[in-house]
Amino acid sequence: MAEELQIESAASKDEIYRQLLPQLSALTTGEANLTANLANLAAALHQTFKWWWVGFYLVDGDELVLGPFQGPIACTRIKKGKGVCGTAWAERRSLLVPDVDQFPGHIACSSLSVSEIVVPFYTPDGQVAGVLDVDSERYDTLDATDVGHLEKVAELLTTLL
Ligand code: SME
Repeated sequence: MAEELQIESAASKDEIYRQLLPQLSALTTGEANLTANLANLAAALHQTFKWWWVGFYLVDGDELVLGPFQGPIACTRIKKGKGVCGTAWAERRSLLVPDVDQFPGHIACSSLSVSEIVVPFYTPDGQVAGVLDVDSERYDTLDATDVGHLEKVAELLTTLL
């Protein structure tokens, strides 16, 4: 695996993801340790998109527990059905929240985060294993393009569990 990510500087967001995804796969291929892989994925996504916060929560019983991330300190436990993360888990679907103040029950780990995407990822037998969470301090950065490609990252995660 190359030591640095190779992304064309003038690429569109869609193209950046197209260039990044095979590199995320290469970054994790051959490494069996989940913590190491999640840590590198969080770092690669953060380095590429400069989001306020990006990381993982992992299912543990009836809660999500904080996993590897990049960004400010965050809430460590979220109950199933609570917040954006717990709702994405309970409903087994990605959630794009353009304005967190409009999402009832949003859990504000940081008052500077204003928009959010949460994408569940699954075990090979279809159980939610955790969620990928992206937070932005801007209203205009996260959209359906991100959701579509982050769901591809979630598919990669299934192969790493
Ligand atoms: N905002 C999330 C909590 C996690 S932090 O954003 C890192 C939620 O409502 O579930």
